[in-house]
Amino acid sequence: MGLFFPKYQWNDGPYLILKGNSETSITICWITSKKKNSYLTWGASDSNLDKNEVSTKKRFHSVTLNNLSSDSIYFYTIKEDLSLYSEGTVFSFSTAKNMDSNKEIDFIIAGDLQPKNDYTLKTNNILARQIDKENPDFIIQTGDLVQIGNIEKYWHYLMKSLPVMASARSILPVVGNHEYYLFHKNKNFKSYFPYNFPGKKSAYYSKDIGDIHLTFLDPYDGGFAGLSSRISKEQKKWFIKDLEKAVGHGTGWIFVVLHQAVLSNGEYSGDIKLQEWILPILSKFDVDAVFWGHAHLYEHWRYNYGKNGYVLNPEDNPGKNPLDFFCIGSSGASLESNFKLFTHKPFKKKKIKWFNKENGIAERTSVQFPWNREVYFEGEIDIDQYKKEDQHYYHLPFDKEGNYPEDRSVSYNTENKWYGYMYGENTLHYAKVKIKNSVCTISIRYADGTLLSGPDGTLPQEFLLKKKTRVASQ
Ligand SMILES: [Fe+2]
Ligand SMILES: [Fe+2]
Repeated sequence: MGLFFPKYQWNDGPYLILKGNSETSITICWITSKKKNSYLTWGASDSNLDKNEVSTKKRFHSVTLNNLSSDSIYFYTIKEDLSLYSEGTVFSFSTAKNMDSNKEIDFIIAGDLQPKNDYTLKTNNILARQIDKENPDFIIQTGDLVQIGNIEKYWHYLMKSLPVMASARSILPVVGNHEYYLFHKNKNFKSYFPYNFPGKKSAYYSKDIGDIHLTFLDPYDGGFAGLSSRISKEQKKWFIKDLEKAVGHGTGWIFVVLHQAVLSNGEYSGDIKLQEWILPILSKFDVDAVFWGHAHLYEHWRYNYGKNGYVLNPEDNPGKNPLDFFCIGSSGASLESNFKLFTHKPFKKKKIKWFNKENGIAERTSVQFPWNREVYFEGEIDIDQYKKEDQHYYHLPFDKEGNYPEDRSVSYNTENKWYGYMYGENTLHYAKVKIKNSVCTISIRYADGTLLSGPDGTLPQEFLLKKKTRVASQ
């Protein structure tokens, strides 16, 4: 292997992950070019880093600091010359606020990164600097961090911008199909982000931060499945238990994050198998919002499962509230317009069986058409999209009266009305989530931090969610 894939030759990092309690601990990660002992010093004052830690004989170093005070600033330095920072650089981070303090919690959701050439290294850097400027409490990432998971060079490319946003706060990523490339599974992902994964071969996990429950899925742990997901039986069982537990201990907010697009109007359509499995569960547990990536653009659905009388399983008991689905698909990755967004052939997907108490079974097939290249507005040069191909192509699937037309140069999928498709735009972006007391605000931002607002600012992407009351099942 060494002949084709040269050994890692860089010292990279640092970046933070959150293995323990967010109020009292943090895990600092960095990588050395070879296995060695590596040293970290830290403390509560930047002029007095009085504590020393050693990480022994490794390339992937991670040191967890425990017993920290909540809502406090700490400082640290790594005794290595790192590719982005010379030895002696002092970094800082804050521990989470006390759960009962009613203070606002802010976090960012970043999309696909996949730095692979000069252009995407630049877009990744622009986004990482902007996300750092937002100063969130933590960052979630929707997968496809790297272009090819088993080639070390691409992980080094990721490390050219990841520390810019994640050396001062933790990052909680999900595994993407590009981390699984080529046939190496999720091994590098788990080495770079050593969370406590409950499944031995899988990379799913969950985390509670204050009043927020976050579930991170691994759509590919059930074996190779080409372009679609394949989720192991263990993970399916775990997912339900995880949500039951969250509801059981009365958590205020539940968000689910996964890489694979459950629904999509991008170059590929949504994942039917995934839809049939996950939609009834998301509705039953009344999750607040679901975030995925994979399609390198932004899309939003507001879907009320079962409201039209149709469910996927006759015994389903759907929740009353609509579900917000977001595709946060590019915080640096080459935009969907560079793939077959305008040129793919219309594709038909396998039928889905829906059940209705009065009408019995309805079989529905979705047909997806390419995007209309005529529908776009221009982006700003050098801040946002600075390549001609990367204009803000958008997808507004309904007319002024709110009707979804049959015209497939306006609404690109025959099922857009069924799933409550609201808006899509080919643009670099990220999501910002603010939670204070019983209100959550989700806003989608362009690369320069302004609100994603569509053509002439007519479609501001900002959504208010109110805290739901969930009843634990017996
Ligand atoms: Fe992907
Ligand atoms: Fe991707």
